[in-house]
Amino acid sequence: MSATAAPIERVGVVGGGIMGCGIAEVCARTGLDVILVEVDSAAAERAEQRIRASLDRGVSRGKLEPDEGREALELCRFEPDAAALADRELVIEAVVENREAKLRVFELLSKTVESDSAILASNTSSIPIVELAAAAGERAPNVLGLHFFNPVPVLALVEVIPSLLTESDVIQRAQAFAEEQLEKDPIVAPDRAGFTVNALLIPYLLSAIRMFEQGLASAEDIDKGMVKGCAHPMGPLALADLIGLDTVLGVSESLYREHREQLFAPPPLLQRLVAANLLGRKTGRGLYSYQ
Ligand code: 3HC
Repeated sequence: MSATAAPIERVGVVGGGIMGCGIAEVCARTGLDVILVEVDSAAAERAEQRIRASLDRGVSRGKLEPDEGREALELCRFEPDAAALADRELVIEAVVENREAKLRVFELLSKTVESDSAILASNTSSIPIVELAAAAGERAPNVLGLHFFNPVPVLALVEVIPSLLTESDVIQRAQAFAEEQLEKDPIVAPDRAGFTVNALLIPYLLSAIRMFEQGLASAEDIDKGMVKGCAHPMGPLALADLIGLDTVLGVSESLYREHREQLFAPPPLLQRLVAANLLGRKTGRGLYSYQ
């Protein structure tokens, strides 16, 4: 199986959460034909609203013209059935950060996407790419990680993560897609839990949650410390709420499963917040309240 060097025109995204919508939005903003698949039409409708709201924000911040926002939305189709992805040249999986759910998607994509040269990518934050590749059977050489950062329209980085099985032309094509077509700044990252960025970022966020949980400092002071003292754009607790506490927990569990090191272990407070469906900004309450 070999990928061609032609630019990619038809992109699929599986999952219409924060990341899936952000990825679909940046693809459509560069003129690509995008199909976003969600589990049912209500979820597909929510994804469309999310992208519309972000494009409106981009317009109000002067990042794009109203016409460009409208055109980008017109380039996105929202479908409740993965069969719609048959003609895609690249599909980016962005479902919930759960290993079994992602394995199911890769198995399905390997049977649904028709072209032998199509790239099957995952936006996973931490799950080993080689496991997703194995789920894709004969398509394994065309599987790799394409990991974006939240908010996707704002942050430039994309981690390109080949597995032991990824063909080199697939890696090159994915890099060119990120850099030349999406105008992002890619880095190649190793296929180990957390790749490069989350292997560093998540233990930092977990340390902040532990510090707060143990009553050593208030949430506001922890965040103020890192914003005012280290010039971070936001503090670790606010950032955990932005990422989504379910995602932070999922990444923490993957890192802990792989490395068995205490610094990756999920703090009880994080587990309880997720059990209570207090997931951060997206549910209106997490470490902070947004209501
Ligand atoms: N489209 C285009 N541009 C947009 C936009 C949109 N929808 N929304 C905002 N922007 C632009 C703004 O115009 C502004 O640009 P400028 O600096 O050129 O003026 C810039 O983005 C900042 O926007 P705002 O003024 O609205 O907001 P803030 O200045 O408060 O910044 C933030 C908000 C971008 C979230 C910033 O606080 C930040 O970068 N925080 C850190 C986020 C971070 O670390 N993310 C990584 C998370 S880890 C991850 O995603 C990996 C996963 O696997 C866990």
